[in-house]
Amino acid sequence: MAELNYRTALVTGASSGLGRGLALWLGRRGVKVYAAARRRDNLVALAQEARALGAHIEPVELDVSQAEATLERVRELDSACDGLDLVVANAGVGKQTHALQFEWADAKQVIDVNVTGAVATLSAVLPRMVERNRGHLVGISSLASCRGLPRNAAYSASKAFLNTFLESLRVDLHGTQVRVTCIKPGFVKTEMTASIPYFMPFLLETDPAVELMARAIVRGEDEYGFPWPMDRAVGLAKWAPNFLFDAVASKVL
Ligand SMILES: NC(=O)c1ccc[n+]([C@@H]2O[C@H](COP(=O)([O-])OP(=O)(O)OC[C@H]3O[C@@H](n4cnc5c(N)ncnc54)[C@H](OP(=O)(O)O)[C@@H]3O)[C@@H](O)[C@H]2O)c1
Repeated sequence: MAELNYRTALVTGASSGLGRGLALWLGRRGVKVYAAARRRDNLVALAQEARALGAHIEPVELDVSQAEATLERVRELDSACDGLDLVVANAGVGKQTHALQFEWADAKQVIDVNVTGAVATLSAVLPRMVERNRGHLVGISSLASCRGLPRNAAYSASKAFLNTFLESLRVDLHGTQVRVTCIKPGFVKTEMTASIPYFMPFLLETDPAVELMARAIVRGEDEYGFPWPMDRAVGLAKWAPNFLFDAVASKVL
């Protein structure tokens, strides 16, 4: 495995699922991790679990949909630890927004957390990382960003935004020591997918998914979609003509 060059990290959405797993993965390898989310009790339990393993995780109560407060809090953390080396914008919500039962409130929540929250999290440290010429920005997108998936107008679009946002940053940062990584998971067993009633192909358990994500981050990948069969299928779906995509997606997904 590539060498781990982080002293400090911030992981948002660390009170459950992939973010929790990633915070522990980093903490167990000696990184001081700020674990952010709204559910304080979960974060305190995570910090206790980490302590028992000899790892250092600090709970940070934060609602990333409050953009100004997020910018301020993340900058405070950056100052407190003499510069965050790794920032993972992982917090996300997966509300369904079917066109036939569309609710603005659900779409707004998805945009506030997955788009505004992620951009606020990353923007808070970007200028500082540029000044230090060091750091790693990571966004947790989704393979659901490849096309507009059924029932997921807001979710698919929010993750497509994140892909493009991160790609532009990456191009702008070319030639610097600030890295940008976009992670695109397929289906993973977490709270987010617990209530999904339909078939989820290539569904992964949380731990192996965290392992794949963490290793891709440490390798400094530009983009990483997993599991690979789902990534390949999505790659094909990108090129399918609309008539074919619409017919298959509306029946199979
Ligand atoms: N599971 C999958 O199949 C899958 C697939 C592709 C991509 N992803 C992405 O992976 C990321 C993690 O999701 P997960 O599967 O681990 O789901 P999860 O277990 O539901 O975790 C979501 C995390 O986001 C946090 N969060 C939600 N709203 C927030 C807010 N306003 N402010 C701060 N934190 C907030 C939650 O914490 P609080 O509720 O405590 O705030 C929780 O820690 C998400 O970005 C998701 O879109 C997941």
